[in-house]
Amino acid sequence: MLETVPLTSWTGPYDAALKARAVAALERGAVLFFPDLAFALSDAEKIFLDAKVADGKAKNISLDPSTGKMQASSLTGDKAQALAAMIARFGSQAAALVHELLPYQNVERARTSFRPVQVKGRSYSKINDDRLLHIDAFPSRPMRGRRILRFFANVAPDTPRRWHVGEPFEDFAREFLPRVKPHWPGKSWLYDKLGVTHGRRSRYDELMLSLHDAGKLDSAFQRSSPHQGVEFPPGCCWLVFTDQVLHAALGGEFALEQTFHLDVSEMAEPARAPVKVLERLCGKALV
Ligand code: SIN
Ligand code: FE
Repeated sequence: MLETVPLTSWTGPYDAALKARAVAALERGAVLFFPDLAFALSDAEKIFLDAKVADGKAKNISLDPSTGKMQASSLTGDKAQALAAMIARFGSQAAALVHELLPYQNVERARTSFRPVQVKGRSYSKINDDRLLHIDAFPSRPMRGRRILRFFANVAPDTPRRWHVGEPFEDFAREFLPRVKPHWPGKSWLYDKLGVTHGRRSRYDELMLSLHDAGKLDSAFQRSSPHQGVEFPPGCCWLVFTDQVLHAALGGEFALEQTFHLDVSEMAEPARAPVKVLERLCGKALV
């Protein structure tokens, strides 16, 4: 479930056998755990380890690497710029590491986020509550089968980030697929036209959203489906396909996260992608 990767440097070259082990484990649905890789903050940046740097509305502060625009921070002026620079530096280091460690040629760097709010005290609707086991599916950003890969760093000085990691994707899909209803015809078209989504959702996107919601809403599943507790201590990183690995964030504060998207064709074993698993189980194309 957890594959320990003993990197001590953000920059390669990395050992070929280690790289082969990393991609195999990642695609199999393991969380790659880097216990000896810390993202270092400068002394000046330590002021950002404060929940008040968030605006209190969104879950995360996010930075769009293509525009440099930061959202959901309460900071202004020089302080806002310095926070954006810290998040951007993390994103660049994460992207360089992913590029060096994994064999993928085309990895799209999406948003970078800073998560300064205590996971524990948050209160959200069930659907938005990431303390419940779920796979990631984006309501407004159709993936059309593309993968969601996320690189995390715990930058809290002394709090571990605590997760639960659940059963294999296929077991989860087999259990919930018969229970989810199709979205109404025309919904994906309308949402695209209204600008609710960036582009049109495929059947795959609709199914993934339904599976995400159904799993979170099922309290028996939340209580008793197989899962394992994992602690990510301060000063470590981890990397995981969050569209495949059932996860829940139970506790912690001050994490950084970089999201990547990639085509299934980039994978060493495309058959392990959620879209391929769902197509096999449904017996039809979903994209
Ligand atoms: C999530 O992706 O569900 C949240 C993970 C985290 O913030 O630790
Ligand atoms: Fe998630």
